[in-house]
Amino acid sequence: MLWGGRFGAGPDPKMFALSASIDVDIVLLGADVAATKAHARVLQAAGLLDADEVGAVDATLDELLATWRAGELGPGDGDEDVHSLVERSLTESLGETGRKIHAGRSRNDLVATDVRLYCKDAAGELAGAVTELIEALAVQAEAHTETVMPGFTHMQPAQPVSAGFHLLAHGFALLRDLGRIESAGQAADVSPLGAGALAGTTLPLDAKVAAEHLGFGAVFDNAMDAVSDRDFACDLLYATALLGVHLSRLAEEIVLWASPVFGFARLPDEWSTGSSMMPQKRNPDMAELIRGRSGPAIGDLMAMLTLLKGLPLAYDRDMQEDKELLFRSVGRALGCARGMTAMVSGIVFDEDRLARVAEEGAMWATDLAEILVGRGVSFRAAHETVGHLVALVEDSGDPLDATALTAAHDAFEVDDLEVVDASRGMRARLSHGGTAPERVQEQLAALRSRLASGG
Ligand code: ARG
Repeated sequence: MLWGGRFGAGPDPKMFALSASIDVDIVLLGADVAATKAHARVLQAAGLLDADEVGAVDATLDELLATWRAGELGPGDGDEDVHSLVERSLTESLGETGRKIHAGRSRNDLVATDVRLYCKDAAGELAGAVTELIEALAVQAEAHTETVMPGFTHMQPAQPVSAGFHLLAHGFALLRDLGRIESAGQAADVSPLGAGALAGTTLPLDAKVAAEHLGFGAVFDNAMDAVSDRDFACDLLYATALLGVHLSRLAEEIVLWASPVFGFARLPDEWSTGSSMMPQKRNPDMAELIRGRSGPAIGDLMAMLTLLKGLPLAYDRDMQEDKELLFRSVGRALGCARGMTAMVSGIVFDEDRLARVAEEGAMWATDLAEILVGRGVSFRAAHETVGHLVALVEDSGDPLDATALTAAHDAFEVDDLEVVDASRGMRARLSHGGTAPERVQEQLAALRSRLASGG
């Protein structure tokens, strides 16, 4: 118990049960050990611990961490949270030295320090996972710069694109996610240790000693803000929520592509599931799960913002609930990003089917209108002319022919019929960022160079 002195009775077991967070925050043990070692050095610099005591603190904490990592940590002595566990272990092992450790610090600055260390690590791990996913998309895109497929708007055939172009569109969205994840890691990179409960301490403690020992890039400016601030956690949750949204859009396309009705692509056996009843099934369950998990990813961001809304400064106990949201969001994002990497690497496009389907839906219509524009016709008039032509072709059920084309407008020539070729349409989109293979190669190079230079 960290605070018995002014109380006549111990906590009601029901209060303790409501209060305890150790099942969740034990994940922070490594961070709490690091922060406690750093604080021991702060106390040493102030002459409040000697070198032997700091050595003993280090050894005890290392042993505690090793015991936990080996899965051998006992049920504890009614520890409320990870901070109580660490302080109790020090006190039990070192007696008076352990009882000195909490001088000038509070669980308020300690928990903020632990969570920031966690977020820095998590951002690094997430950035690695998203980088691998982007690389997997780039590999597939490179193999398919010339694979024509229908590009959709409103899920209606729109204009022919290359599969590589389409995959790179997802790659660029993920590259922005990578930037957001990295900047959330930077936002977490400020040490709050030394803020105490909310207002600092009367002891001659140097917060910079702790920050340096922990490898933080900066030290807090205002102690009250330092214990109240969870912006960095919101940043990381926003980054994981939007990553979840992006993954859900890619997942949804994989679900569609893998349906035999589309027949665009096939997921590998290892990433498909069967049905307990229907022997023919080959379901994209993992893509659906990734799509579904964007829901709780968004929910956790909303939960965090709602948790913080209206809280008076400085620390309030509500903030204890931040950790569960963070840990599960990071774990979910890692799992989804890694699963998506495997699916993207293993997916096999049916190039013949894609090429056939790309000839459906009159996707040559814009190209024809643009031919007229090139010959001086206004775009609106060209649109109208080609619209009539599309209706004519649709009604007749026959492909577009030279007679219908030249009858539609004086400016059309027989050779213009060559637009009725999706691959040609894809290659002809040479404008900046377009789907022509030359442009896609440039996009691929840009994506890879930004990936190499850290987003
Ligand atoms: N377990 C708490 C948390 O996770 C830290 C304890 C601070 N509690 C307090 N009553 N000051 O936020």
